[in-house]
Amino acid sequence: MNLILLGPPGAGKGTQAQRLQDEKGLKQLSTGDMLRAEVKSGSALGKRAAGIMEAGQLVPDDLIIALIEARIAQPDCKNGFILDGFPRTTAQAEALDRMLGLRGLKLDRVIEMTVDEKALTDRITGRFSCASCGAGYHDRFKQPKKPGICDVCGSTEFIRRKDDNVETVTARLRAYHDQTAPLLPYYKARGVLQSVDGMASMDAVYKQILEALPGK
Ligand code: AP5
Repeated sequence: MNLILLGPPGAGKGTQAQRLQDEKGLKQLSTGDMLRAEVKSGSALGKRAAGIMEAGQLVPDDLIIALIEARIAQPDCKNGFILDGFPRTTAQAEALDRMLGLRGLKLDRVIEMTVDEKALTDRITGRFSCASCGAGYHDRFKQPKKPGICDVCGSTEFIRRKDDNVETVTARLRAYHDQTAPLLPYYKARGVLQSVDGMASMDAVYKQILEALPGK
């Protein structure tokens, strides 16, 4: 099964994609995580992307499309994947249609996560993650069970994203409305769009996503 999780920054795409990967065996493909890995490695792509990401703008389509095209060809995607943060523009959605068509694959669902915009800033500015395994946490909504110790790997090192500040969130939201929201009618017209209430608890959102999958 191949899915897209679509929603503004902080909607909970990464949280839900991680759980779907753990429990359903679908591979999470987060273009944000891929880009942050490129930035960390100091690659040419990372150097190009770093400033754009810190400004809350979108990295050029050709770079992102090449990243995803290489990634879905890997063996760990053969049981299906969850696109988290891709596509974000009409050009990316059209490129995805082309690359799936070439491989004889299809898009089973696009899950829109609807959220109250006022909540997004709180979610984003309170987010942190394990520096070792990447498990995601929040100052108020999801703290480690033992303070200062990662539930998953036991690490005591945590990090915050450079773009998780109030100023950048405003730019990221603008990019979402201008460039990504037009994908909602694009996928509605294809009959694959389903909406879930992203304001519900993390468990309740996950249940809604399972209900929205084909075969339910
Ligand atoms: P990316 O990393 O994709 O960031 P984003 O879309 O802004 O999404 P976030 O990761 O901020 O939010 P999320 O929806 O995953 O929420 P999360 O689950 O973490 O992209 C970063 C940058 O990379 C972009 O700005 C752009 O520059 C570039 N980029 C990436 N992809 C690109 C593309 N395709 N094209 C061009 N450029 C691209 O949740 C947030 C917090 O809320 C967490 O702390 C979580 O614990 C908490 N939370 C989650 N769900 C709930 C809930 N139901 N209730 C309470 N708290 C919750």
